[in-house]
Amino acid sequence: MAIGEATFPGPSLTLSPEHEMIRQTAREFAEREIAPVAAEFDETGEFPIETIRKMGGLGLMGIEVPEAYGGAGLDTMSYVLALEEICKADAAHGTVMSVNNSLFCHGILRFGTEEQKQRFIRPVASGEAIGAYSLTEPMSGSDAGTMRSRAVRVDGGYRLTGRKSWVTSAPVARFILVFTMTNAAQKHRGISAFLIETDQPGFTLGKPEPKLGIRASATSEIVFDDYFVPESQRLGAEGEGFKVAMTVLDAGRIGIAAQGLGIAEAAYGASLSYAREREAFGEKIGQFQGISFKLADMKTRIEASRLLIYQAALAKEASKTTGERYTMEASMAKLFASETAMFCAHAAVQIHGGVGYSKEFPVERYFRDAKITEIYEGTSEIQRVVISRQELGLR
Ligand code: CAA
Repeated sequence: MAIGEATFPGPSLTLSPEHEMIRQTAREFAEREIAPVAAEFDETGEFPIETIRKMGGLGLMGIEVPEAYGGAGLDTMSYVLALEEICKADAAHGTVMSVNNSLFCHGILRFGTEEQKQRFIRPVASGEAIGAYSLTEPMSGSDAGTMRSRAVRVDGGYRLTGRKSWVTSAPVARFILVFTMTNAAQKHRGISAFLIETDQPGFTLGKPEPKLGIRASATSEIVFDDYFVPESQRLGAEGEGFKVAMTVLDAGRIGIAAQGLGIAEAAYGASLSYAREREAFGEKIGQFQGISFKLADMKTRIEASRLLIYQAALAKEASKTTGERYTMEASMAKLFASETAMFCAHAAVQIHGGVGYSKEFPVERYFRDAKITEIYEGTSEIQRVVISRQELGLR
């Protein structure tokens, strides 16, 4: 029995009937509402607000958020199963969903005050508003502790100045979880986190990022010019921002792993169908080992990714009661699943030959979308740093 078709966790690696139902609901929605429009939104680069709203209505924008804060009140396994299905249809929709769920809502759930949870999570988890997360700056990517933006303490709060880049959903977000320096002399221990509102003076959108893939997700720079944020909107203690950012990224990386798995499965599904139909030299091309071995490698990596993702999801779920970190599980899942996405998308284009290179088939979109999973929320190189440091006992 295939892992994905079974009941899990259990004596065999199988999914519970409830998890099966969540997966089925997300799959049917994605096939009916997202798949038919994915190519068009990829082409125009327009933000698919209607389908995103519908996802909010289904509870997909705050899956792990308790119902008391407007969410679906489900577990991490439900989150990864639903996200995988959405990404099978379109990774760009998945990007918006994953930032909303794991980078925005999870951060506030984990570190927010009761007032912050009520005010900022409720509209975002219900899909009425969109949330974003902003760590990166033009001169600070992988080395996230070196940011140049500043927040200076003033009466009642802080004044923010600086430029942040690569902010997923910034052009459509009502709220952004922003990390900035409150004490540069303290380096990473001088970073603080703030919940900012995009309709306040001193906030403007910078240049849109012209992207290779996930084109329907909106990404831009953001600029703060003497932006006032009240102290009540600081998330966590002053100087605790780097820890908040890293903790939240642990959750986010499980989401990106699920996104990679969804893209890989889409690429594999298209390749399997094509290999069964397309003929060359008097045979179906699947008869040739040049093609069938690629399919075997794709399938094996997909199922291995699934296991790492389920393991990470269970570790995150357990952390809700134990408080234990799941950094290692999240990084391994993200590393393997994102490289599997790229491997499968690359093989899919090759299996399809000329039509794989054409916009008339979806595999070139999978190829462009897959690449970002090896880059955002920590490059593959950073995941290897995180995993090896933990194994060597260096952190
Ligand atoms: N959880 C909690 N705390 C953590 C942590 C984690 N996962 N990782 C590190 N920390 C803590 C450490 O314990 C340490 O604490 P102390 O100050 O008490 O000693 C502190 O953070 C500093 O840790 P390091 O010394 O390990 O920090 P470092 O400077 O060597 O950096 C890094 C570590 C792993 C390389 C980190 O900088 C990193 O993950 N970089 C990648 C950043 C990234 O993923 N950016 C993507 C941004 S989001 C995005 O892509 C856009 C989007 O919208 C989707």
